Amino acid sequence: MKILVTGGAGFIGSHVVDLLLAAGHDVVVMDNLSTGVVENIPKGVKLINIDIVDQAVADIFRTEKFDIVSHHAAQIDVRTSVSDPVFDARVNILGSLNILECCLRYGVKKVQFASTGGALYGEQDFFPAEENHPIRPLSPYGIAKYSIERYLYYYHEVHGLDYAATRYANVYGPRQNPHGEAGVVAIFCDRLLSGRAAVINGDGTQTRDYVYVGDVARASVIAIQKTLNCAVNVGTAIENDVNTIFRILNSAGKFNMTESHGPGKKGEQKRSVISWQLASKLLGWKPEVNLEKGLELTLDYFKKKHVRS
Ligand SMILES: NC(=O)c1ccc[n+]([C@@H]2O[C@H](COP(=O)([O-])OP(=O)(O)OC[C@H]3O[C@@H](n4cnc5c(N)ncnc54)[C@H](O)[C@@H]3O)[C@@H](O)[C@H]2O)c1
Repeated sequence: MKILVTGGAGFIGSHVVDLLLAAGHDVVVMDNLSTGVVENIPKGVKLINIDIVDQAVADIFRTEKFDIVSHHAAQIDVRTSVSDPVFDARVNILGSLNILECCLRYGVKKVQFASTGGALYGEQDFFPAEENHPIRPLSPYGIAKYSIERYLYYYHEVHGLDYAATRYANVYGPRQNPHGEAGVVAIFCDRLLSGRAAVINGDGTQTRDYVYVGDVARASVIAIQKTLNCAVNVGTAIENDVNTIFRILNSAGKFNMTESHGPGKKGEQKRSVISWQLASKLLGWKPEVNLEKGLELTLDYFKKKHVRS
């Protein structure tokens, strides 16, 4: 199969690229390198450097003739979406729509969409959230992701385009960018390894469902192979707070840093954790890398990166 991975130079997209290549697919990456880097793309994989909003994306679809699209390119920062919802919507809604229109016009059979399980349900009524939990996003980012899920439903029902919306929890692991606002594990690894304080926002009791990137990429590739036409959570159903993340990393790397807290972030969700029962049923998938192991693997990656730089 010829598969386009948008955002394939980024953190999660590049792991999906690795698994698709290993499964023998012909893979092409589309990325504007705004947060992704060329080093994440395996040698020999074609990179098309273009913004997904660009109308010229259609020319690429016309000439390349993709069978499947794994859509990961996005503005990923929830806080940026709050400060600039128009920019967020331009990339995450209009850019995604541009991709979906091209899929329809140029014969793509299926789209796998990187949706969110962490920013869709809002403050949860029950824990972990299943896919039928009320959708109450508390950010423009979550609203944009849900809009695209609805567009996918429309494209499937009206035009017959198959899809899978994989709702990722809080993904962490090697290649995550530590220089943004998002990705507490990458930020803490980077700070601890360079001897700087890893400041915890607020009291650090806010919880998330931390899922390892290798598990996420595996779920995505299975979703690409199956015909789902629905949304499915990809998480661990285990909640951990930020203080726990700091303590595990601090002890695994023997940093002996004292815990420091800064002001809390206004409007930050208090708890988030999602069920993987549907993923087990539809994909035969379950999370395999536990938090301690995943953090160890992530820290090892950042250690090697620090030695090189
Ligand atoms: N990291 C998480 O915890 C998480 C959770 C839920 C969903 N997601 C989704 O997974 C996907 C990948 O996220 P990530 O964490 O790997 O982030 P990332 O920033 O590493 O990856 C995004 C990639 O998209 C590219 N990109 C951004 N804007 C683009 C544009 N306008 N045109 C073309 N390329 C563009 C970036 O250069 C980057 O390579 C995103 O859709 C994100 O919303 C991530």
